[in-house]
Amino acid sequence: MSITISPSLLSVDFLELKTELERLNQIDNLWLHLDVMDAHFVPNLTFGEPVLNKIKNISKHKLDAHFMVTNPDMFADSFKDVGLHNFTFHWEAITHHDRLIQKLKSMYPSVGISLNPSTPISAVPKYIWGKVDLVLLMSVNPGYGGQKFIPEIIDKLIELDQIRHTNNFKFQIQVDGGINDQNAGYLIQAGANNLVAGNYIFSEPNKNYASRINKIR
Ligand code: DX5
Ligand code: ZN
Repeated sequence: MSITISPSLLSVDFLELKTELERLNQIDNLWLHLDVMDAHFVPNLTFGEPVLNKIKNISKHKLDAHFMVTNPDMFADSFKDVGLHNFTFHWEAITHHDRLIQKLKSMYPSVGISLNPSTPISAVPKYIWGKVDLVLLMSVNPGYGGQKFIPEIIDKLIELDQIRHTNNFKFQIQVDGGINDQNAGYLIQAGANNLVAGNYIFSEPNKNYASRINKIR
């Protein structure tokens, strides 16, 4: 599987959003990771559908939305015209997982589920793995950019990669939080094929984001 890098918009200079998106347009083969937070599921509030509607007009990249919200079902409807490529919701947020996955499958090209650091792989029944396009393993507690990577999630990554391999499932494994050029190699070796990075990419002092992205690659 090829490796996708998904810069997280959370760490850009929002006062320069258009310019930042144009900078990313100079780099090929990215996903643009969009962290939607509702101040309920996580203690932070970010952006919603009106902002994403503007972003889609500028960014050339596939839009990868990560919903850290208590009611992803509601967001599925309100975001339906934003042109998202991938819609990821948190396993911990809801009860009727299968129902929501079926609904999302009819609305979005790619559907993902996300697990918090403390949620075990065994929380998800095996039949679900065959229904999703992406599994996001959080490697920080969700809510903020710039936090420290939690190395214990590597065991979960190995376990999930094993499940994928043994059953020939096709989902991507995305890891999100605290990723940099030091830990990316281990994560890819352990089975990750989609890496989200915010602070590491956007803290490049000369705004040469391609150099940081290439280091991760
Ligand atoms: C955290 C978000 C992440 C975050 C990653 O809740 O889901 O996508 O922006 O940013 P860094 O790479 O700075 O940890
Ligand atoms: Zn995220």
